[in-house]
Amino acid sequence: MMGENIMYNTKTIDLSIDFENGVKQASNYIKKDELVAFPTETVYGLGANAFSGDAVAKIFKAKGRPQDNPLIVHVDSIEMASKLAYINDDARKILEEFWPGPFTAVLKKKDIVPAGVTAGLDSVGIRMPSSDAMLEVIKRTRCPIAAPSANKSGSPSPTEAYHVENDLVGRLPLILDGGSCKYGVESTVCDLTTHIPLVLRPGAITVEQIKELTGSVEVSPNILTPLLSNEKPTSPGMKYKHYAPHADVFVIKGEKKSLVAKTNEMYDEDIANGDKPVIFCFKKDVAYFGSRNVMIQGGNDNINEVAKYLFKNLRDIDNLGYTKVYFESLPTTGMGLAVMNRIIRAAGFKLILVK
Ligand code: TXA
Ligand code: MG
Repeated sequence: MMGENIMYNTKTIDLSIDFENGVKQASNYIKKDELVAFPTETVYGLGANAFSGDAVAKIFKAKGRPQDNPLIVHVDSIEMASKLAYINDDARKILEEFWPGPFTAVLKKKDIVPAGVTAGLDSVGIRMPSSDAMLEVIKRTRCPIAAPSANKSGSPSPTEAYHVENDLVGRLPLILDGGSCKYGVESTVCDLTTHIPLVLRPGAITVEQIKELTGSVEVSPNILTPLLSNEKPTSPGMKYKHYAPHADVFVIKGEKKSLVAKTNEMYDEDIANGDKPVIFCFKKDVAYFGSRNVMIQGGNDNINEVAKYLFKNLRDIDNLGYTKVYFESLPTTGMGLAVMNRIIRAAGFKLILVK
């Protein structure tokens, strides 16, 4: 059954040399209810005309995505968003501040949004991205674009065009290559249908920024902890395994000296057992780990850089054949919350606490 989903001769167009051609071809495909992968400032998205149930169904098929996980709809303006959902004054104020940008608002949907987009929910997630190509295609086609991350369901989100190629070649006609994504983690998803804004997924628009604007914000309890088997997720995406490389990932938390000792001890045990371990660390910390294998996850304590390369590093772990990964727990403030939300899922919630 290998070839079942291989239906297209996938082309990649480099936007840095062929922007106009890329946007033109993408617009034609979107109008014909075909799929296009777009770069955005967060991650690459797998886009389709959000008004077409047929086009949207192709997204689920290409990704192997569970039908009950709703999609984010991308728009070019608050005005376009207001055709899809009800936007009150409080919500409008938030959108005016954070759009265009890495912020997805969950709003009460209007009937025009096909049920396939929202997986039958009465709310819809909407975002205005700041990526030129996607905005231009939305403007030219007048179609809002439904787009989840352009990875195979379950693997890390793509932050480079070749990640999309690796996961989806043959399953769509066109990939637009816009280089590395600026933030590297998906947008903040925030429910604005509740009395107080509720962050469902942390991202580059931080909890602190939302609080500063609105005065109060709540954070879903499942951002850093697993759902219990009888718990209903506030966002369907929470219940699925995510970002997981084949390797076993461990998050280690504690005071630096004992953390380093524990990491090195586990690493050396792995070597003795014939495993292939690697330690994620900051440049400034390399010396702590002697001659052990490390993967540099950014400059000194720069959490934005950790975020930007996180998914690429998770993909590289598999490509390089590592079987165990050790990741130092980071503070959960600002962008740190987004990074920890992703890595703790990649680790299957395996957290090792040291004194
Ligand atoms: O940055 C991003 O958000 C990227 C780019 C392409 O825009 N998109 C993205 O989409 O990450 P996806 O499908 O991988 O993640 C969408 C998340 C899922 O966890 C989904 O459950 C949640 O948003 N979501 C979408 N609509 C929702 C709704 N109406 N209520 C609650 N959660 C919703
Ligand atoms: Mg995704």
